[in-house]
Amino acid sequence: MTANPMIGVIGAGTCDDRVRDLAYRVGEGIAKAGYPLICGGLGGVMEAACHGAFDAGGTTIGILPGESTASANRYVVLPIATGIGIARNVIIVRSSRVLIAVSGGPGTLSEMAFALQLGVPVVSLESHTPSQAITIADDPDDAVCKALRLAGLDKERQMSNLRQVGTTRIVTVRGDITKQATDAIVNAANSTLMGGGGVDGAIHRAGGPKILEECEAIVEESGQCPTGDAVITTGGNLPAKWVVHTVGPIWRGGNHDEPELLASAYQNSLAVARSRGVQTISFPSISTGAYRFPVDKAATIALTTVAEYVKANPFDEVRFVLFSEDDLNTYSAALANLTLD
Ligand code: APR
Repeated sequence: MTANPMIGVIGAGTCDDRVRDLAYRVGEGIAKAGYPLICGGLGGVMEAACHGAFDAGGTTIGILPGESTASANRYVVLPIATGIGIARNVIIVRSSRVLIAVSGGPGTLSEMAFALQLGVPVVSLESHTPSQAITIADDPDDAVCKALRLAGLDKERQMSNLRQVGTTRIVTVRGDITKQATDAIVNAANSTLMGGGGVDGAIHRAGGPKILEECEAIVEESGQCPTGDAVITTGGNLPAKWVVHTVGPIWRGGNHDEPELLASAYQNSLAVARSRGVQTISFPSISTGAYRFPVDKAATIALTTVAEYVKANPFDEVRFVLFSEDDLNTYSAALANLTLD
């Protein structure tokens, strides 16, 4: 087995929407688990897996035939001449700690056989596989989890940054919330809705003046936003279509309804997002910056509140985007400890 933590993804170049969706989610799952992926092909599965990983902020290496220019700006492309598919497969298999086969024909089958021969474990999402491969039909999240476990990577980094609650994925990632391509992102605002520092400043800077104009119109019509409440504007120039502005409590020792108000900020943010049909949403760590709410307490409240809410009102994904490694670890630990019935 190779020592590096790269995860290989293989599959057909020509495939339907269902397979492309599976590949996208495999790529996304690998990136969210924090590993780079390598894949090759003529489009199809490779494109979708690379896009999934790219959208989740991961590192991807796509190996394409020399003449292909498809989405080259989204991932590193190692152009190698068409017609030497075997060389491509050797590069992928030998570079991978574990291989995930999404779907494919004889080429994919031979890659799986080659990997198994070299002692690289294989997880396959389709049923026509060599007997030593682990087969998991139609469940990309489970396939990624199994692949990490088979490769011994789950011990290095527990899959605590992904939990499924009903049909909703709750994930924690490290990153900048202004770069998230979820339907909505949440702003840790103040009651005036007129901007500020931290996340608030970053969102208004990246989103442009339209967001502030919409905030001004909201304040004019309905007044300031009370602590624990939330309003929604469009996303201006951001990748997200919507920005939910919520006001978390200022920490004053913990006996001034801070936990309840923080929970309410999360609930009202989700409610206002749902009213616009949002399916994917990114939260920052509300109140734990300028408002000084202790981050471990805030993480537990945030995750418990969201998990409870989505049981009755599902989203596709609720993403927590943490700015520092410490905050990511705190939120990931709280996610891992979450009790779900
Ligand atoms: N992406 C993700 N997280 C970020 C980003 C970013 N671009 N910028 C800062 N953060 C993190 C901070 O490191 C902190 O962990 O977001 C968390 C929340 O910090 P604040 O933005 O200070 O939010 P909060 O504690 O809720 O205070 C709100 O700050 O700027 C003002 O107008 C805002 O008055 C309000 C107050």
